[in-house]
Amino acid sequence: MSLKPIDKPAELTVEGKSYAIPILQDAMGNRALDIRTLRKDSGLIAFDPGFASTAVCESSITYVDGEKGLLSHRGYSIEDLTENCTFIEVAYLLLHGVLPNRVQREKFSQLLNRHSMIHEDMSTFFRGYPEGAHPMVVLSAMVVSLSAFYPEIEQSADREELDMTVTRLLSKLRTIAAFSYKKSVGEPFVYPSQKLSYCENFLNMMFSSPVSDYKIEPYLVKAMNQLLIIHADHEQNASTATVRQVGSTRANLYAAISAGICALWGPLHGGANQAVIEMLQMIHRDGLSAETVLEKAKNKADPFRLMGFGHRIYKSYDPRAKIAKKICYTILDKMNVQDPLLDVAIKLEEKAIADPYFQDRHLYPNVDFYTGITYRAMGFPTAMYTVLFALGRLPGWIAHWLELRQDADQKIYRPRQLYVGATQQNFVPLEKRP
Ligand code: ACO
Repeated sequence: MSLKPIDKPAELTVEGKSYAIPILQDAMGNRALDIRTLRKDSGLIAFDPGFASTAVCESSITYVDGEKGLLSHRGYSIEDLTENCTFIEVAYLLLHGVLPNRVQREKFSQLLNRHSMIHEDMSTFFRGYPEGAHPMVVLSAMVVSLSAFYPEIEQSADREELDMTVTRLLSKLRTIAAFSYKKSVGEPFVYPSQKLSYCENFLNMMFSSPVSDYKIEPYLVKAMNQLLIIHADHEQNASTATVRQVGSTRANLYAAISAGICALWGPLHGGANQAVIEMLQMIHRDGLSAETVLEKAKNKADPFRLMGFGHRIYKSYDPRAKIAKKICYTILDKMNVQDPLLDVAIKLEEKAIADPYFQDRHLYPNVDFYTGITYRAMGFPTAMYTVLFALGRLPGWIAHWLELRQDADQKIYRPRQLYVGATQQNFVPLEKRP
């Protein structure tokens, strides 16, 4: 553990007895009560459903300032990274802690190309799924299946071995993602090509077919890189916390990432990008006004929420949403696409951010609000949106899994609970049960 307590601890007094609680301060000045020995010292535990006030680890990968709307990876702002880097450079940064120089980037790129194929036996798995299976099902199942085909990383693995496994997964997820799409539309798989870059390859595997070539437009490749970058990591979000949780049991990398993919799928997390488009389509189809939709979202008796709005950490505009909105305008403009869903989204945003309900609760568009409209213009079907999120988030998940392995203070994740069930009951034999 690198954090040291500040001089003066906090004091907790319970029934006249005092306990000193060390205060830790992180690199950005955020402070935390170190309650690791609270139960041992006092018999008390902390109650924090959803972990809104709980830090579960030290991390040096990503920093989010939710009040100011700032996001940085290894100290570099998301704006700089999106503007100046390719996705694989950002992946390298997350995994290795530094931006690659030319030689390192070339080597990484070659490794990614070399490992882009999946074992041919795995290709047959895709056939077992019914027509129309959601690609997130296929993605999660295929990732955990990789552990049957490729060796696990030993705890003692050296850096080269680690790099190999990690690169293999990064490269293969892109192939699996594209294959899962081809399977869902009943088209033959398009194999990766060593002549293409990471994002070029992905677009080509998605959209070319044996009967028609796909023209790889540089502006679409740039947008693909940028969209993956804004998803690359976001500290202890639900799916990353899941990867860490599973990793804390020493389950293998593939198992941990597959669990992360499943956690991402939920509509309150990465599945929101699909839910946003479905919501915008519903509003457009039914001719609903922004006012009607917002009233519905504000009505506590109605389970409807404004999808793509709100965030646990951001209490101001999500910086990724700003970038996503800019990419959306650029791509629709370059492709000469007039999407009525963009008009619906803009109107909703305008009305929502001027509405006291959303203002009081600090609800702004999050990363998922504008990405789907861009994906739609690029030709991705709705069911693929969360797969694209997973592809972007993969380097972040792996970086956290690696960090967890190297952190001597990490223990198995095992929260406590407050029990509210029956206290004691007399056993009733089966024949006497009502
Ligand atoms: N629409 C309407 N009301 C909302 C919304 C929304 N999108 N989001 C939050 N609220 C309200 C809640 O009803 C609550 O109101 P209350 O104080 O009157 O009870 C208040 O704002 C706080 O919301 P919580 O649910 O307590 O906030 P939490 O941090 O637990 O949830 C979440 C964050 C899940 C993202 C939430 O804002 C939400 O459901 N958003 C819509 C789904 C979405 O877009 N998810 C993607 C998030 S980004 C990502 O994961 C990649």
